Amino acid sequence: MNSVIEEIYQSGAVKDNKGNEYTLHSGVDRLEGDFLHRLIDSDDSIRKTLEIGCAYGLSSLHICSALKGREGAEHKIVDPFQHKQWHGIGTENLKRAECDFFELIEKPSELALPALVDSEAGTFDMVFIDGWHTFDHTLVDLFYANRLIKVGGYIVIDDCLWASVAKAVSYVERYPAYELHEQSASTQSYKRSIADFIRTVLPAQVAGYILPRYLYDKFYVRTLYSSMVALKKVKEDERNWDWYQSF
Ligand SMILES: C[S@@+](CC[C@H](N)C(=O)[O-])C[C@H]1O[C@@H](n2cnc3c(N)ncnc32)[C@H](O)[C@@H]1O
Repeated sequence: MNSVIEEIYQSGAVKDNKGNEYTLHSGVDRLEGDFLHRLIDSDDSIRKTLEIGCAYGLSSLHICSALKGREGAEHKIVDPFQHKQWHGIGTENLKRAECDFFELIEKPSELALPALVDSEAGTFDMVFIDGWHTFDHTLVDLFYANRLIKVGGYIVIDDCLWASVAKAVSYVERYPAYELHEQSASTQSYKRSIADFIRTVLPAQVAGYILPRYLYDKFYVRTLYSSMVALKKVKEDERNWDWYQSF
């Protein structure tokens, strides 16, 4: 693991460029970071990546340390609060890790992503989503990520144990152009085992029909995925204008 990442996990703290220290209170954990790293290692066609939500830069560090050394490596980061709220520490950490192939777009994803679609549709190999976690916002990020990635590319979504995020992911997973590629291991493996058991006795299709909507949305949807999920775009998205599937 990259030494900057290791130092952050071990100390549980981050520093800005003036040496002020802040407690690490947000960011992907080691297992999720390994998941991102392994996904990029497993496919050497991944060169151009996009990340939504940088905070103190842990996911950026994992992605960029895996990409480092690849010809044409390019990482775009969308985060409106990188300086206002995170003291520029995410991008500072990337510089400390000698990753100089990133670009920060300091705008909310709902504004930055449509602009990117205008000029760079279908050019990204991977989009990582870890921004604002409401259902509608996640769906907006997924909508544009679908436009931004190539066929063969991946959309990786963090915090899929959140009902709001899992619900949005479960809709996009139904698109014929996508396959569930892989899910991260979980630090809370006992919770995962309970979730796996619940899904074995009550598969999602059945649960969707028999559980009251409130129970399904509030509880069952949290059993669908592990905390980080990779969807793979396996073909062009050619859904009809009236395509819809229950989710
Ligand atoms: C959970 S944190 C991201 C953690 C980061 N991925 C990591 O592993 O260190 C969520 C991030 O989303 C950003 N964010 C909030 N609203 C956003 C928006 N509208 N568009 C993009 N990012 C947003 C926040 O500034 C914050 O950095």
